[in-house]
Amino acid sequence: MKEIIKELEELREIIRYHNHRYHVLDDPEISDAEYDKIFQRLLSIEGKYPHLITPNSPSQRVGARPQNNFTQVRHRRPMLSLENAFTSEDIKNFDNRVKKLLGKEYQCNYVVEPKIDGVAVEIVYERGELKIASTRGDSEVGENITANIKTILTIPLKLFPLENQYPVPDLLEIRGEVYMERESFKLLNEDRLTRGLPLFANPRNAASGSLRQLDPKVTARRPLNFFCYGTGDISGQTPETYKKLMSAIQSLGIRVNRPHIRKILNIDEIIEYCGYIEENRMDLPYEIDGAVIKVNLLAHQEKLGQKSRSPRWAVAYKFKPTQETSKIIKIEVQVGRTGALTPVAHLEPVEISGVTVSRATLHNQEEIEKKDIHEGDTVIVQRAGDVIPEVVKAIATKRTGMEKRFAMPSECPACGTAVEKRAGEVIIRCPDPECPAQARQSLKHFVSKGGMNIEGMGDKISSQLLEKGLVKNSADLYSLTLDHLLRLDKIEQKSAENLLKAIEASKTTTLSKFIYSLGIRHVGEHVADLLAGHFKDLDRLRQADREGLVSINAIGPQIAESLISYFQDDSSQSNISLLIKAGIRFEEVRPADTSSPISGKSFAITGTLSSMKRSEAQKIILQNGGSLTSSISRSTDYLVAGESAGSKLRKAQEFGILVLSEDAFLNLMGV
Ligand code: IVH
Repeated sequence: MKEIIKELEELREIIRYHNHRYHVLDDPEISDAEYDKIFQRLLSIEGKYPHLITPNSPSQRVGARPQNNFTQVRHRRPMLSLENAFTSEDIKNFDNRVKKLLGKEYQCNYVVEPKIDGVAVEIVYERGELKIASTRGDSEVGENITANIKTILTIPLKLFPLENQYPVPDLLEIRGEVYMERESFKLLNEDRLTRGLPLFANPRNAASGSLRQLDPKVTARRPLNFFCYGTGDISGQTPETYKKLMSAIQSLGIRVNRPHIRKILNIDEIIEYCGYIEENRMDLPYEIDGAVIKVNLLAHQEKLGQKSRSPRWAVAYKFKPTQETSKIIKIEVQVGRTGALTPVAHLEPVEISGVTVSRATLHNQEEIEKKDIHEGDTVIVQRAGDVIPEVVKAIATKRTGMEKRFAMPSECPACGTAVEKRAGEVIIRCPDPECPAQARQSLKHFVSKGGMNIEGMGDKISSQLLEKGLVKNSADLYSLTLDHLLRLDKIEQKSAENLLKAIEASKTTTLSKFIYSLGIRHVGEHVADLLAGHFKDLDRLRQADREGLVSINAIGPQIAESLISYFQDDSSQSNISLLIKAGIRFEEVRPADTSSPISGKSFAITGTLSSMKRSEAQKIILQNGGSLTSSISRSTDYLVAGESAGSKLRKAQEFGILVLSEDAFLNLMGV
């Protein structure tokens, strides 16, 4: 029995380690199949000896049964909120207050980081084990959501000190934000749309709704994530600064928004950085609604203390709202590439977070009714969760009586075919595969930047190609000649030649872009990436069965169904064959550039990079003709060392391997 217990412990440690590499560091060391094998071994032993199952075994993430309600949890320290700053003046006032309270001893030292738009939670670890997790509640007492928090794969059930940087404290109260990435939110809502379920208004509501499920199995299916941004009680010694505290927490296996936490010593630069975060907020994969400025020295934080509901050592710079009011001029029905009819509101132009919005999606008839939207209504419009703006609701009090009710048409506005509604779906579709609107949208999608990226192939040209019968499907693009293109209206010889070149150049692409360009329902860029990464070969994907598809993380039954029916369809099959025949080929990595200074050199990466994901750095290395190694050996040429590099760095120094800082690496790559 002793041996069995020992093996169980070892298996759990190995699984924890690989979970961390996969989910937190985005840098797996073993294949999914190897991981599954280890996990199966754990499950089989636990199955034989159920009395040896521990509450924080990796097998217990979705172990708990549905509850009837949430019990209450009292926080050891209240979970405060933040005071808001809306202008640079407000930020300066905050700085002045801090200076005044700390007096002479204060030297400007702040950290600034994005304010994640999610749900605040507290997770209590005792002797490294996740004991209890709760919502903020009224700041003193929250709800016990332990079972749901445990389903979030990036939250460790047991802490482990990586590279022994910081010992596991007896008590560690982690505070942070549970959130949902924009892309995951979009997929979740798309799925709900086709199943006729009410949509979540934004990723925050989706995260909060998911955490409030009484059945943790439901939460487990929701793509939630977590960032730590603070602590409650901690036993033992704490580091000197917030920044070091976050590094220490990260070294225990908890996700911290490390690359975006910036230490700044000058208030003008803080204001500048806040503006920078605001301007670039859409580049982040998650929603943020501000930037938080915090005093970095923990002793200073303590000295500053708190007011009734917020600390004096921090302030939230709030971004300009992503919601505005506008008026619906009319509602138009668009036909998408899959035949789905979508009502779109034409709005009086309004600027929302730097972008002028004049159209917004209304999703479907049910949503229009739920939000009580009429033509002519004054409405709230938002850019959130997606770059496609949407109408949140109508402001009924602003009605004049001139507004008109809207009903979806019974015929396709593009081809007049009677529309259909499949059982269990809310979406109305045009069933005619020859519908010109569908063809136009499919072609537009095919040539788009995320797809085959054919530059110069705008809406006007593709519409004309279809109207003149020069192109019927995407494969026909590759048989176009200069003579064909010159038959189009208002096209000059030079642009026609360039377009031909762009079409030719598009033949070399990646499998992921190609899969995306096919326009398969529910297969966006992210899913296409997952599929390409998993199957690595088009034919393997074409032959994949349901089980094979759903075994991929983040691919659910709906996407699987959609892929299978797409690949079974005769016309899709023949279109793909024609595309391949036309000369489309996949290169995951550009051929090694032998003129590059790093050609043939081997690279290892360690630590956290601040300007890009590790996978992106790896891609750059491969594209420049370098190769990658996961561990350091005497034959490794370069080690790229990000922040908090550990044992690999020591080893590289020992072997005399060239160590590159992130900046030096980017320089070398010419990035
Ligand atoms: S620090 C004393 N940092 O914003 C509270 N909060 O409006 C310390 N939030 O309740 C909070 N991102 O839920 C902090 N990077 C971040 C944050 C953050 C999001 C949330 C948090 C808090 C709310 C305050």
